[in-house]
Amino acid sequence: MIQKVRGFQDIYGENAKKYRYIVETVRNIFNLYSFQEIILPYVEDISLFKRSVGEETDIVQKEMYTFKDRGGRDLALRPEGTASCVRAYIEEKMYAQGSYHKLFYEGAMFRYERPQAGRYRQFHQIGAEIFGVSSVYADAELIQMVDKIVKTLNIQARLEINTLGDFNSRKLYSQALRDYFSQYKDKLCETCLKRLDTNPLRILDCKVESCKEISKEAPVITDYISKESKDRFNELLDILSKLGVNYRVNPGLVRGLDYYTETVFEFITDKIGAQGTVAAGGRYDNLVEQLGGPPTPALGFAAGIERLMLLISQLEKKDILITIIPINSDYILKGLELSKFLRDSEIKSEFMLKTGSLKSMMKTADKFRTDFVIFVSDKLELKDMKSGEQLIFYSEEDLIDHIKGEKAV
Ligand code: HAM
Repeated sequence: MIQKVRGFQDIYGENAKKYRYIVETVRNIFNLYSFQEIILPYVEDISLFKRSVGEETDIVQKEMYTFKDRGGRDLALRPEGTASCVRAYIEEKMYAQGSYHKLFYEGAMFRYERPQAGRYRQFHQIGAEIFGVSSVYADAELIQMVDKIVKTLNIQARLEINTLGDFNSRKLYSQALRDYFSQYKDKLCETCLKRLDTNPLRILDCKVESCKEISKEAPVITDYISKESKDRFNELLDILSKLGVNYRVNPGLVRGLDYYTETVFEFITDKIGAQGTVAAGGRYDNLVEQLGGPPTPALGFAAGIERLMLLISQLEKKDILITIIPINSDYILKGLELSKFLRDSEIKSEFMLKTGSLKSMMKTADKFRTDFVIFVSDKLELKDMKSGEQLIFYSEEDLIDHIKGEKAV
């Protein structure tokens, strides 16, 4: 038997409902905050991710699904959405059409990571990006929106927040790390030796024990951040408090992607094991320019839909479901007509052809979480699955009136 690819999932049944519920809920919130949808390609030029997510990040170094197409182009399945969004912003010259843009996207992302609970090789994100606003109030508004998403989905997650400072602060900090780690060249792993030249910040993220040990005493970013960045960060914290958003400052939060400046944040839960970050994001004020666009401040976030799915309990059932069973082949057409009639009256119904014993059919109906079964013969026999009560009707109209009454209760 051919099996699904490792790290990929079939999402069906209750899980598919949860998936759609999350997407619908988040899209509604995006709508309240006036974000516009952008549907982005799944495949991009490899260099887009190298130049944005970063040449030295795990994502680009080890996790991308890359291939050559028949025309010899070097392509990648997208590992995240921000890079594509920025590319589209520049390529479609959105900057020329108004002073700022608020976009959202949703869909599959691909990373060749080690699969475990909450971590897959194909996963889905729903995220939003804002282009053209530098004000700290935009950071606050975005974070408050993510907080609202988490609360609306009834998920318990704490907000951790940090600042990486402006571009200059990051450069100073990188140099300080380079000086520090250079003393331990003999103890660093091979990857980190390379990172020492290219991006010493990444060493702080290394999972190799010896590197982790040395990182403990490394300089901390807070000591290298300019006064402006510190003030900005404090202002953000103050606004968040005023908006009723709880947070914890975590100076060790650096994120796994290279494009961030200033604010970075993660919403983290303890309820699903090691992969507890359900949503994450921050500012990336240099990225648009870095990818060839005009200087444009920007910020955004993305949530992992599978992780959210792990956190929401069984969904409440909203609609009444009616299952229609013709008692024998003489009544199939009558049953199908009744189903059409119910559906035309906006009542959800399942038309079930008699396949086995009545008992096994009732079992299937129960699995569908049916509220009522109607046995179709010369009469219409309605059975309430919860109370067991049975009622007999001779006209479809009377039956619908009765069901509508039940629906209203
Ligand atoms: P990220 O932290 O790499 O950021 O991913 C965002 C979220 O996607 C994570 O917090 C997690 O919930 C989910 N996620 C990531 N990898 C996996 C995986 N292998 N399996 C399941 N879920 C996963 C970004 O991607 C940035 N583009 C976020 C952003 C938008 N920053 C600014 N704008």
